[in-house]
Amino acid sequence: MRKKITVVGAGRVGETTAHILAKKSLGDIVLVDIVPNLAAGKALDLMELRPIDDSDVTITGTSGFEETAGSDVVVVTSGMPRKPGESREDLLRKNIGIVKPVSEQVMKYSPNAFLVVVANPLDTMTWVAKKVTGWPKNRVVGMAGILDAARLRCFIAMELGVSVKDVQAFVLGGHGDEMVPCVRYASVGGIPIEKLMSKEKIDAIVKRTRGAGGEIVKLLGFSAYFSPAAAAVEMVQAILKDEKRVVPCSAYLEGEYGASDIYLGVPVLLGAGGVEKILEVDLTDEEKVMLANSIKLCSESIEEGKGLL
Ligand code: LAC
Repeated sequence: MRKKITVVGAGRVGETTAHILAKKSLGDIVLVDIVPNLAAGKALDLMELRPIDDSDVTITGTSGFEETAGSDVVVVTSGMPRKPGESREDLLRKNIGIVKPVSEQVMKYSPNAFLVVVANPLDTMTWVAKKVTGWPKNRVVGMAGILDAARLRCFIAMELGVSVKDVQAFVLGGHGDEMVPCVRYASVGGIPIEKLMSKEKIDAIVKRTRGAGGEIVKLLGFSAYFSPAAAAVEMVQAILKDEKRVVPCSAYLEGEYGASDIYLGVPVLLGAGGVEKILEVDLTDEEKVMLANSIKLCSESIEEGKGLL
């Protein structure tokens, strides 16, 4: 029997997530959106694409949650995207009003699912989803680190003129401009990037990575969606195929990295058990200060979120 994957929200991130999931034939897909006919129309378009894409999974579009029942993984993309001049935090009030009822529906119809949250402000929305569902921490995870790391890896590859396949890197901290790109751990074909690039170049890449979401919002007038969707699919695949990937995700911390009761981007082991493990890496004093700042901002956002629940 095929796996069942629900994608909540048929906006740009949701539709792109559904498309990539279908292309990879990871499972039957249910696309949900409260806007009447939106998900149904996009699902039908994706159904008709399948003969060209060589995919036999089914894609159903609906405006309610009944058809999502018994999903193995639910990806929550619903929420307002950023507009120019808006930070991810500016979305908190609006998106909590979406992520809370969505989490309640997910809990009701798919009580054993894994929940992958994509809505912003990411770490706070993932915390809200965990709070509302009351699910164990391994089953509620946020998508941000894979996206932020992909951006960092992309910029390193562009600078050095090398294949992105050979660039490894991760990003720690909240999914905000205070994230901590861990360049000390970044490598190209196993060679530390500090051996391949000047400090000035590395600093410029770190700065661009931190502002990469905003750079696209400025160009488009709304948030990125191809790379966020691809990152969410990578997480779904890691869970459904028990890949034991080591990737940065927003995970619930209970003392790791000196933080508790918050969601924060950290390297995790992602497999059939969801977040099976959180990996702690050594940090320099400077990195610790940067991470502490990111933790402080995440904690403040979650505190504000608590007040709105
Ligand atoms: C970004 C949005 C999706 O980083 O948070 O592009």
